[in-house]
Amino acid sequence: MALALAIETSCDDTGAAVVDSSWHVHSSVIESSIDLHRAFGGVVPELAGRAHLTTIGPVVERALLEAGLDPHAPAIDVVAVTSGPGLIGSLLIGLSAAKAYALAWGKPFVGVNHLEGHLFAPLLERPDLHWPLVTLLVSGGHSMIVLQRAPGVHEVLGETIDDAAGEAYDKVARWLGLAYPGGPEIDRLAARGTPGALKLPVSMTGDDFDFSFSGLKTAVVRATEKNPDVALADVAASFQSAVAEQLLRKLRRTLEKYDDVRGIALAGGVAANSALRRGVESLAGEFAISSYLPSLAMCTDNAAMIAAAGLHRFEHDGPSDWTLSARPNWSLSEVG
Ligand code: KG4
Ligand code: ZN
Repeated sequence: MALALAIETSCDDTGAAVVDSSWHVHSSVIESSIDLHRAFGGVVPELAGRAHLTTIGPVVERALLEAGLDPHAPAIDVVAVTSGPGLIGSLLIGLSAAKAYALAWGKPFVGVNHLEGHLFAPLLERPDLHWPLVTLLVSGGHSMIVLQRAPGVHEVLGETIDDAAGEAYDKVARWLGLAYPGGPEIDRLAARGTPGALKLPVSMTGDDFDFSFSGLKTAVVRATEKNPDVALADVAASFQSAVAEQLLRKLRRTLEKYDDVRGIALAGGVAANSALRRGVESLAGEFAISSYLPSLAMCTDNAAMIAAAGLHRFEHDGPSDWTLSARPNWSLSEVG
């Protein structure tokens, strides 16, 4: 059985984890720099990079100690690290650290695509997943529907043509004067509001699997300017239901087209959204297939999912070359 130490520094979270090839998580440590970014209403790349630089050493040491390993000479088989996509400065810090650890300990290292990492997250909590699996991956930077025939064998069916779902949440929240990140704020408020209170268009009603959220964001701005007396909770509920409706409509189309699919999984930060989770559960019930809703810790960025994807890549493709560099725009379609 192989054991991996993984490092994740693609955005604002510094993560390290130890996972084995039976998908058992021995440790998973995450240190977020989100408090530094809150005042700016979004992640400031320069601040995120500096934070990784100070936290990476202690976070890796904690992950090794919590897994019962010697932090100076851990008995691991491979060092996995996110090498893209993400913020270039942040990626480079994780990648340089991973190479340094691997060289110092005489271990191979493997670069992992962050999005493929998200696809492996449900496996860590639900080893009984049914395949083929459709995963809706929705985060602050990405929104896509992915068809997975087996772990590591995937096809991107559709993606956002403009903003990511989480980005739309964050932008609308900022317009409404809510704190960053806006997704959880809007989700909380929406629970007390009426979804139909504000008339909003449902975008992208075509037959493809792509999304668009930019028009919806503009529609919220226009509608709230026109109806300034609508309660904040009602705005939140109306926006939330329009986002969920678009995502669920596309998921439904996927299930209609690919009728051998046996499970739906959610991944990424927006997978924490209550309307989306409810909708996916009911869709799975309707199509008599399984639904996998990850815990909050597995929705958001973490290194355990990078370890899982890294173990798979290491086993199938072997180690990465020492000259591997960070790829800020590395597409999931180029992997698997
Ligand atoms: O995956 P993630 O932690 O970071 C990356 O973007 O990689 O996702 C963060 C995003 C943010 O845009 C945040 O507003 C959104 O996930 N988010 C939510 C919820 N919780 C987090 N969006 C909607 N509803 C939520 N409950
Ligand atoms: Zn992510």
